Amino acid sequence: MSQQSTLEWRTRIGSSSLPFVDSRIYTERDIFDEERTKIWRKSWLLVAHESELPEPLDFRTTSIAREPVAIVRGEDGVVRAFLNVCPHRGAILLREPAGSLKQASPSGSPKRITCMFHAWQFDAKGHCLSIPRRNAGYQERLECSDVGLHQLACEVAYGGFIWVHLEANPVPLREYMGKAFDDIAPHLEAEPLEVFHHHKAIISTNYKLWHETNSEFYHDYMHHFNRVTSMQQAGYHDRHYEAFPFGHATVSSMEVKYTAYEHEQVNLAESRDLSFPLLERNGWKLLDLFPGITLNLRGSALRIDTATPLSEDRVLIEFRGLGLKRDTASERERRVRDHNTIWGPFGRNLPEDLLGVTNQTLGMWPGSEGLHVLHGRQENGRIHDEIGLRHYYEEWSRRLGRSASDPYGEAAQSAAPTPLRAGGAR
Ligand code: FES
Ligand SMILES: [Fe+2]
Repeated sequence: MSQQSTLEWRTRIGSSSLPFVDSRIYTERDIFDEERTKIWRKSWLLVAHESELPEPLDFRTTSIAREPVAIVRGEDGVVRAFLNVCPHRGAILLREPAGSLKQASPSGSPKRITCMFHAWQFDAKGHCLSIPRRNAGYQERLECSDVGLHQLACEVAYGGFIWVHLEANPVPLREYMGKAFDDIAPHLEAEPLEVFHHHKAIISTNYKLWHETNSEFYHDYMHHFNRVTSMQQAGYHDRHYEAFPFGHATVSSMEVKYTAYEHEQVNLAESRDLSFPLLERNGWKLLDLFPGITLNLRGSALRIDTATPLSEDRVLIEFRGLGLKRDTASERERRVRDHNTIWGPFGRNLPEDLLGVTNQTLGMWPGSEGLHVLHGRQENGRIHDEIGLRHYYEEWSRRLGRSASDPYGEAAQSAAPTPLRAGGAR
């Protein structure tokens, strides 16, 4: 045992067979910018659930790779996605996070999307309906039929989730997901779902670190709640970790012993069986989707995390909780309580995860001493095997055309161990 000299710290840790990534993939702006174009513009992303736009003309807004996006349910009931940008002179169109087009916006008309700048109007299918003083200004040179909103690839699938892709002809959603949904989909598709919880948080971390904490269970030592209800229970270390093409991964189920957590306020779904359809009682399944989506199904509640990277060290995370649409009031109350007890902003699990990744960001920041970050646990594809992390970075490396362990091609130029330098090539 020894303390690490500067040279040792900057060379690799342990045996040369231990997989790692270079910490600059979390901290460098040039890598972040490249991720935006090579990953986030080229992935199917979960943007909402259909229950969040229940009525015709309901809408929600979001952004993908900094592009404003509007999700609109048409009068025909069909959910469509558009670039939320006016084709006239580029102003953003819908400016609220959610609402209904039934109410006219200021200077607009009901049922129409009206740009606040020069009042061009569009319907919920993206057709232009009105250009004020069109003939006076454009004569025959511009008709309403010449313009319209830019419609994006959009599908509703896997239990009513709305998926959007910025590219014109993306790989089909079902092909992108492959068999990754096979294990969890039966529980999501058996009955209509409904979002009962949605909160957003801007977290000081790189989005990949958040996805990592959703992809490895070794850190369950940090969670007192998980230690008591899961880690000490039979079957925990047998949970199977499986990787799928395009960077996705799943974790198989186990029965969680919520009663092992002794607290007068906590009696999670044990007394009444509210576990999701077809799920074993108090089962727990997880699906991680590249590049930043997690579906976490624990007995009575489903949690969805979606990441929107803001910079190399900030990410907007949206947390949703879902139950069954047919819930009675008391069932829903129970599900909400189960969800919030673990995953609410003041729950017994979520704040610890947030603390974990923000502490990583304090240790790895732009210009900081470089680090080899280990992803090297191998336990026969069981729960503490970091196969999910390694699989994610295989896909990441493929997309970027850079190695996650050697993002600047330094090791490739040298047979010697790579000295990490603070800061990346900019
Ligand atoms: S920018 Fe939208 S109407 Fe002019
Ligand atoms: Fe965690």
